[in-house]
Amino acid sequence: MKKRFGYFTDNGREFVITTYNLPRPWINILSNGRYGFLVSHTGGGFSWLIDCNLNRITKWYQDVFRDMDGRYLYIKDIDKNEYWSPTYKPVMKKLDYYECRHGLGYTVIKSRYRGIETEITYFVPRKESMEIWIVRLKNMSKRKRNLEIYTFLEWWLGTIYDIDRQFHGLFYDLWVKDNIMFVTKYFWTGFDGSWNRSWNYIAFLTSSLKAISFEGCREKFIGENRSIVNPETVEKGECYQTIGRGFEPVGVFKYFITLNPGEEKRFTILIGVGENEDRIKKIVKKFIDFENAFRELKEVKKFWLDLLCKTTVETPDKYVNYLVNYWYKYQTISARILSRNAYYQQAAAYGFRDQLQDTLTLLLVDYGWAKRQIIEHAKHQFSDGGVMHWWHEHNDQGMISRHSDTPLWLVFMVINYIKETGDYKFLEEIVPFYDKGEASIFTHCELAIKRVLKKFGERGLPLFLSGDWNDGFNGVGIKGKAESSWLAEFLYLILNEFSTLCKIIGKDRKAVLYRNKAKRLRKNFNDKCWDGKWYLRGFTDENTTIGSHKNKEGKIFLNAQSWAVISGIAPRYKARKAIISAEKMLDTKYGPALFLPAYKNPNEKLGYISRYAPGTKENAGIFMHAVTWMMIAECILGRANKAYKIYIKTCPAYRGSDPNRSKTEPYVVSEWIAGPDSQFFGEGWNSWLTGSAAWSLRVVLDYILGIKATYDGLKINPCIPRKWKKINVKRYFRGSIYEISINNPHRLSRGIERIIVDGKQIKGDIIPLFNDGKTHYVEVFIE
Ligand code: GLC
Repeated sequence: MKKRFGYFTDNGREFVITTYNLPRPWINILSNGRYGFLVSHTGGGFSWLIDCNLNRITKWYQDVFRDMDGRYLYIKDIDKNEYWSPTYKPVMKKLDYYECRHGLGYTVIKSRYRGIETEITYFVPRKESMEIWIVRLKNMSKRKRNLEIYTFLEWWLGTIYDIDRQFHGLFYDLWVKDNIMFVTKYFWTGFDGSWNRSWNYIAFLTSSLKAISFEGCREKFIGENRSIVNPETVEKGECYQTIGRGFEPVGVFKYFITLNPGEEKRFTILIGVGENEDRIKKIVKKFIDFENAFRELKEVKKFWLDLLCKTTVETPDKYVNYLVNYWYKYQTISARILSRNAYYQQAAAYGFRDQLQDTLTLLLVDYGWAKRQIIEHAKHQFSDGGVMHWWHEHNDQGMISRHSDTPLWLVFMVINYIKETGDYKFLEEIVPFYDKGEASIFTHCELAIKRVLKKFGERGLPLFLSGDWNDGFNGVGIKGKAESSWLAEFLYLILNEFSTLCKIIGKDRKAVLYRNKAKRLRKNFNDKCWDGKWYLRGFTDENTTIGSHKNKEGKIFLNAQSWAVISGIAPRYKARKAIISAEKMLDTKYGPALFLPAYKNPNEKLGYISRYAPGTKENAGIFMHAVTWMMIAECILGRANKAYKIYIKTCPAYRGSDPNRSKTEPYVVSEWIAGPDSQFFGEGWNSWLTGSAAWSLRVVLDYILGIKATYDGLKINPCIPRKWKKINVKRYFRGSIYEISINNPHRLSRGIERIIVDGKQIKGDIIPLFNDGKTHYVEVFIE
């Protein structure tokens, strides 16, 4: 990676950005699940409470090129009458030194301007609804410096839709007391959409420094014909101390600091939310104290490391190690589970299928958390087996799913949960439905399967409805005739897996029933969906094919081939042929495209997939979610080097060596990379908020390293690149730690010769269960 842009620290726990001139904002997402904070490498971003769409604390418009909405500091040298921003923005004066460290649960931006070194550490405490900045200023010059410091943020206290500022400005109330700025709003549409509700909190801003003045009014702060690049208040040093009502509020405090040569001073900035003034004063009192703030920062760092390091790997590829050990998990948990937010997309809501897939990560870090997450989803299933597509946590409102695949993800995750934990009792846990009544988790799963089984088309394949996994196919099946071959594959896997589970828990009749359904589906699928060299993607309402050699556009789809292998629905020779066709026709310099060629013109009969610019997102982009499934299929077929090649092409850390092309952050996965039919081929988009982080983690752990949870124990079946001679893995599993070494002295990629557990060779490839809370040593030999 060119140091020009940044690098991972040696232990991989921080990414250090070395220039503020980046193609796009490279961010961090800090959240305790209630209060969230997004920060770009130049201080852009915003804060929110619970819901980043409906409950924003500070102003932010999504603009990935401008990145000028944030919470900022201005520093002014009074004697020289010049000011700058220590985070580069918003003033954008050239800094003499700059560095931004995005870490696990914190970000540090350090800079120097004319002899003043500034370091700001941002983090969100584990429990309180607030953020803390620890600021350190040092005078590296030879003269005494008299500095004014200004804070700046725009209070929002509302929803993403509140952009009519002249209107919304009329509802705020702002006051300053005891060095704290308080602000509330007597209007909030975020909870129930009513126009007759107050925002039920008070936001605050304060510092350990004693303010010499403040400004609450945006207009007065900025001045006439100016912007936050050169606000009048900072330039003239004059604050009007505006409080009260009837204006667009900002959080500006003015502080004064003197620094002798070599002198260093620290202060904190606290921003947050509370129910009332008293409660706010209490948390302010606690964290204004440096000791407490530092201690909390240490605890936050410890929280993340403890959580992420339960399972770790040591492969010859350091980027694999960094991403698997820290960043894939951190991305999933911080962005997808705790925040549902990112720079490119502010989903805010929980997606039924999305966060269930993210639970693949939770399962590796905390069984209890994974279980709670699954229950949350089961609660959003209806008593007829249908589900909410997504819902907001704070008001439990959302949208009903008309997608065909969504209910099945619950079953998928329950099966994964039981394989990982051995907690069969979970199946008996009673969970309410979203509409009425309640049932066991087992029944929730059965209802989901039955719902999908009920909606079959004339070929004996499941219906497409308003889209399957691919949301963009929302026009294909509205008449209720179109069938999805990908869903047939997914359903086939679920039916077989559920049948096995039924057998294990003694429900033999059901086991047979679901196995038979799977058999029938397999036959229909292979009869109807084989296109000669690959599998079709489905059939439209109009009875035309999707993903056939007969189609001019959308000839071959990646998921239809990868899932033919993953699900086991394809006979071996067809499975192989399908993957080879996919490789031949879809692989590119930047990874395999979702399908090719892209749809060039809007087609109502297909859906909005055809409305995206060709080569972008679901319209033939290199869609990372699907890429991870292709790697899994390659591993299942034993094509280790093929899988690893795709990994290297699409892995964010490798892509980071050419940031002007890759654009997005090297430490997190992007949802998609522009495909060959796009003029921006190779550019990454939509980083952070993608389920492919969880799947990338599983690609490496479960398929490349091949250490996979089964009902009976950890199954070992590596499919590693030939050049990897030795790998060490620490895998937490059902209370025990397994220290696994994989030895590959002859540079093969698979085929286990022997497995030795605690000094004794075992039979088969499943490490026995110990349930003893101890560490066990496993040596695996590929020979
Ligand atoms: C996005 C959505 C996910 C969907 C996928 C394909 O990742 O969050 O739910 O399956 O796109 O459309």
